[in-house]
Amino acid sequence: MSNTFDLNKILRPHIISLAPYSSARDEYTGHTGIFLDANENPYGSATTENYNRYPDPYQAEIKQKLIALKNISSERIFLGNGSDEPIDLLTRATCTPGQDHVIIMPPTYGMYEVSASIHDVKIDKVSLTTDFQIDAESVIAAITPLTKIIWICSPNNPTGNVMQHEAIQTILENFNGLVVVDEAYVDFTDTPTWIQHLDTYPNLVVLQTFSKAWGLAGIRVGMCFASAEIVKILNKIKPPYNISLPAQKALLEGLDSVDKKDKMVAEILKERSSLCNMLQDLSLVIKIYPSDANFLLVQFEDAKAIMDYLIHETIIVRDRSRVHLCEGCLRITVGTKEENEVLIETLKKYQQKGVIV
Ligand SMILES: Cc1ncc(COP(=O)(O)O)c(C=O)c1O
Repeated sequence: MSNTFDLNKILRPHIISLAPYSSARDEYTGHTGIFLDANENPYGSATTENYNRYPDPYQAEIKQKLIALKNISSERIFLGNGSDEPIDLLTRATCTPGQDHVIIMPPTYGMYEVSASIHDVKIDKVSLTTDFQIDAESVIAAITPLTKIIWICSPNNPTGNVMQHEAIQTILENFNGLVVVDEAYVDFTDTPTWIQHLDTYPNLVVLQTFSKAWGLAGIRVGMCFASAEIVKILNKIKPPYNISLPAQKALLEGLDSVDKKDKMVAEILKERSSLCNMLQDLSLVIKIYPSDANFLLVQFEDAKAIMDYLIHETIIVRDRSRVHLCEGCLRITVGTKEENEVLIETLKKYQQKGVIV
């Protein structure tokens, strides 16, 4: 099969003909005037700062800043309430419940499966190889006429590695549905983004997020980059004001502080390497997987006991020990220098005393 992608063939028919909600702020986009169109409170807010006006539904100011930063035109940018929102919207736009399929490659980020399950969409799993790479041949063999989305996470959560370019390219060229490359952790790797290939592959969708490198997980904003026609569909089916006013304000401020983000990323990369070195010296560590993300996947002698011990010491890591191909592993987010040192000291204590909790 070679790619003859036609968006209308993979959209659910009722989505193509759907008339979207027209919000008050769709009809007039000016900033000045007497606004009596949206049933807002004209006096201000119960809080000190005013939030009485609805936010820009299409976040024009933010997209203006992203154009230069991501080297992409604004009609190819969609912003969601976290990147979890475009994950949900892409599923909804293309997959008919009880009928259509998506392909995921475990071990990977859990929301692709959860989102499919919420919509009663069938999930075909094609395992990553034992070195956590894509088995492109098996993925292509798993495609059926009912497959609408193939989810790829690169760098992958929870394994931390980047997926080989050729494998993603092969899938893009041999699938007529959407290939979504989730780059939530792209700022922590030297591997270039797939955004630059959007012109070549009309079925490519790239996800990124403000939750990791930018340190803005609390405001819930994710980015989705795709063809203008895919973005149009996402805009059509999203809730009208999906990015709140406080989130938009924080984001505008954050986007003017690229230097601060870059400094934090540099610090995290330095700490990732030093945490890796310190963990390597511990005898209870069996293996540390190479990471292109802001976390390490670490295999321990007795992951469950260490997890319990760390929780007892109020250090919270993520237990991935029962996840396919990650047996015996904990996923450890790179913390500050001080946090990482406390983690290592705590693990040393466990090692020395054989602590039982
Ligand atoms: C691979 C991946 N994609 C998406 C997300 C969700 O990001 P957001 O906070 O933008 O919803 C995460 C969160 O951990 C993630 O690991």
